[in-house]
Amino acid sequence: MRKQLIALTIADLDQIVLQLTPFVKKYKKVALIGEIGAGKTTFIKVLCHKMGVEGNTASPTYSIINEYLCGEETVHHIDLYRLNTKEEVHSLGLMELFEGNSYCFVEWPGIAEEYFPEQTLWIKISTGENEERIFDVFHIE
Ligand SMILES: Nc1ncnc2c1ncn2[C@@H]1O[C@H](COP(=O)(O)OP(=O)(O)O)[C@@H](O)[C@H]1O
Ligand SMILES: [Mg+2]
Repeated sequence: MRKQLIALTIADLDQIVLQLTPFVKKYKKVALIGEIGAGKTTFIKVLCHKMGVEGNTASPTYSIINEYLCGEETVHHIDLYRLNTKEEVHSLGLMELFEGNSYCFVEWPGIAEEYFPEQTLWIKISTGENEERIFDVFHIE
């Protein structure tokens, strides 16, 4: 399945998150593709808020993995931007996280592409001519 959603402003993210939440809950592993400033972290923050994550969400650019609680569930917010090698991906324990039951929201998934489960929700965010954000969403049925 693929679909495209457009956010003209940050306020439109609420509506996009609302539409995607059922898929996020089904797939649990979400890969966010997009250049710096595309809005990956912003999207994940809104998503976490809507899902009922307790406390603040921050960008994991330096921490690489942030862990949040969401009721009985755990959310791992992961940013692979600073990783350069497959060895680093291995030592991070990403495969174990992907095999586990937690939600994983991953920015810069490219270096670990082949490790994502088949049932991953892929979201590509790009910026349009008027600063609008275009969300291309892909997943297998
Ligand atoms: N849907 C959007 N519409 C307009 N501006 C946005 C949107 N999403 C994010 N931004 C802005 O873009 C900037 C970068 O967002 P960020 O989420 O940090 O990007 P990334 O994590 O992809 O590098 C922020 O200043 C944010 O306010
Ligand atoms: Mg980011």
